Amino acid sequence: MRNPRFNVLFEPVKIGPVTAKNRFYQVPHCNGGGYRDPSAAAEMRRVKSEGGWGVIFTEQVEIHHTSEITPFIELRIWDDDDLPALAAMADAIHSNGALAGIELAYSGANGPNLYTREVPLGPVHMPIATFTSDPVQARAMDLQDLRNLRHWHRLAYQRAKRAGFDILCLYGAHGFGVIQHFLSPNTNQRTDEYGGSLVNRARLLRELISDAHDEVGDTCAIAVRLSLDEMLGEQGFSNAQLRELVATHPDLPDLWDFAHGTWEACSGTSRFKPEGAQEALIHGIKQLTPKPVVGVGRFTSPDLMVRQIKQRLMDFVGAARPSIADPFLPNKIGDGRVEDIRECIGCNICVSGDMTSSLSRCTQNSSFMEEWRKGWHPEQIKAKASDSKVLIVGAGPTGLSAAHKLGLRGYEVALAEAGTDLGGRVTKESRLPGLAAWARVRDYRVGQIQKMPNVSIYRSSELSAEDILGFGFEHVAIATGAKWRRDGVARFHLRPIAVDPTMPVFTPDDLMAGRVPSGHVVIYDDDHYYMGSVLAELLISNCNRVSYLTPSTKVAEWTVNTLEQRFIQTRLLDLEVKVSLSSALKQVGSTYVTLASTYTGKETTIACDAVLMVTARLPDDLLYLQLKDRSAERSASGIKSVNVIGDANAPAAIAWATYAGQRYAEELDEPDRGDALPFRREVAALKPGRLA
Ligand SMILES: Cc1cc2nc3c(=O)[nH]c(=O)nc-3n(C[C@H](O)[C@H](O)[C@H](O)COP(=O)(O)O)c2cc1C
Ligand code: SF4
Repeated sequence: MRNPRFNVLFEPVKIGPVTAKNRFYQVPHCNGGGYRDPSAAAEMRRVKSEGGWGVIFTEQVEIHHTSEITPFIELRIWDDDDLPALAAMADAIHSNGALAGIELAYSGANGPNLYTREVPLGPVHMPIATFTSDPVQARAMDLQDLRNLRHWHRLAYQRAKRAGFDILCLYGAHGFGVIQHFLSPNTNQRTDEYGGSLVNRARLLRELISDAHDEVGDTCAIAVRLSLDEMLGEQGFSNAQLRELVATHPDLPDLWDFAHGTWEACSGTSRFKPEGAQEALIHGIKQLTPKPVVGVGRFTSPDLMVRQIKQRLMDFVGAARPSIADPFLPNKIGDGRVEDIRECIGCNICVSGDMTSSLSRCTQNSSFMEEWRKGWHPEQIKAKASDSKVLIVGAGPTGLSAAHKLGLRGYEVALAEAGTDLGGRVTKESRLPGLAAWARVRDYRVGQIQKMPNVSIYRSSELSAEDILGFGFEHVAIATGAKWRRDGVARFHLRPIAVDPTMPVFTPDDLMAGRVPSGHVVIYDDDHYYMGSVLAELLISNCNRVSYLTPSTKVAEWTVNTLEQRFIQTRLLDLEVKVSLSSALKQVGSTYVTLASTYTGKETTIACDAVLMVTARLPDDLLYLQLKDRSAERSASGIKSVNVIGDANAPAAIAWATYAGQRYAEELDEPDRGDALPFRREVAALKPGRLA
């Protein structure tokens, strides 16, 4: 039963001509699938509708072919050919009574048009602002271009309505898109009636919204998504200017949706942003308008949601990542099952799927974007196909995920953990600076497993091959994780580095086990994700000097994909970690290291007291190999299958580990698929043309 203090979250809210059934508002988010994987994207939103969201949005949808952001894959509403995919998504969203929202985007100076080859349009002549510094400029729009832009928007409004959407939101946040480019004095230095004063800079927004009201406002709500602060002081579209805009146009849209300034700040990871981080920026804005207001902040705590609603900071709890990690978050609060919420850990692996144009995945919710492809569901799973008993060795993220999902299927499961702590790497990593939220991967799964009478956990149970052969489980999954290498092997060096045995060489495993070096420590980061920089933070408080070397041209290069790279490099520089980029470790001497420029080969020597290798990892797969070699004994003891899963199979990020656990559970006792693809996909259809 719902706790009455959460009742406010379930009040209906009117948005122009439509009414949301509650205050849970899934703000737009991409998924790396977009136009390429329309059914996968639609089914993902359908599951959110099932989970109780009142409003569910698409990702940004490109309204016209003169503005697209290839290589990123979003939805499009360029012409009627795009409507079936969009209508399928709107239908899926409506399936359980949610309002369907579409975010209409004209990227302008953010769109290099690599696919359509059209000349991009912006408020002024300016280089395209993308993550990849494409060698393309946007042309300054003249008044005819602006008339065209309004016309193209009108076409998009009509199509969005025909596709079945209830709320049309114009995208003017995160520094992306023509609306923000016009609003911001940083990008709008026009001298005509569209530039200069805020009234002039807001003219395009006023026109686009008024056209939308004319075109479809009788049945569709018209919303706008704006940045709370461009974070460029008065040079940019500041928080003060946003407040002035709202105060002077209080009734302009049917709903105001506010997102933090840049995308990096708005979708900040838990390492850098706490839950509810935009509170100060949004505070008081609602009082400037009679229209409903949406705010975001990685909200997973219902008490914080209630407070922000009751303090009149916002009317809707906007959520992207919390809705990805747990599509059933509203229903769980509504049904009085708050402890079952699978809280987002704020890792931004979901963002990396978009950034790499692959399908997004989620560390906490392995079903995300597999709802249609594989038929996975975040809350349900098919019943067991046999009475087989399953032994899982290792209670890290993979073992816990496998045990949880197998338990849901109804299998009898024993989960054996060598140590006293559950969670494996997530428990250890969650004790490192900034990574406390990683522990949610463990806490959610352990919380669920503890309710299952058919899953037993055995701690302090290091098992040998003999033990396992003697037990009589039909299926055995080895999820024993991985260990960091000490020999320098990773991407740059595929063979061990020469190391003087008198130099203390540490690995992340040593530090996580409490063995911490002192003096001047050199960190060699050839991993390029978070670990090297997190350990630099840890060491800076223990050691008198920390140097960070990497063969990359950036600190923690891969974290560009999780939107953290700038924050990480800034933090290390602020902490006065000595950073050497494009530097490969050549040799480790007794009191020094030699590094070589990855470009010129020029060598430099640094005196130091210890070296920390953050390089590759090796699977902890000895137990698996021992069992694999004993097939006759396995058969004799009734073992039908032995699998190695997760990091013990091939080390990767935590999201890969939880996915491997779920996959094992989903596929147990399934018939062999042979050469068939293990997922569904959509293939572009041929149109009549020269090939026909
Ligand atoms: C994977 C991902 C994709 C996103 N794509 C969009 C988008 O297409 N349009 C948009 O306005 N915001 C986008 N955002 C930003 C979110 O809408 C949201 O403002 C931000 O993540 C903060 O909310 P949260 O803390 O609830 O995730 C995206 C966020 C994520 C995590
Ligand atoms: S991938 Fe990470 S940040 Fe994204 S929704 Fe899942 S847990 Fe949250």
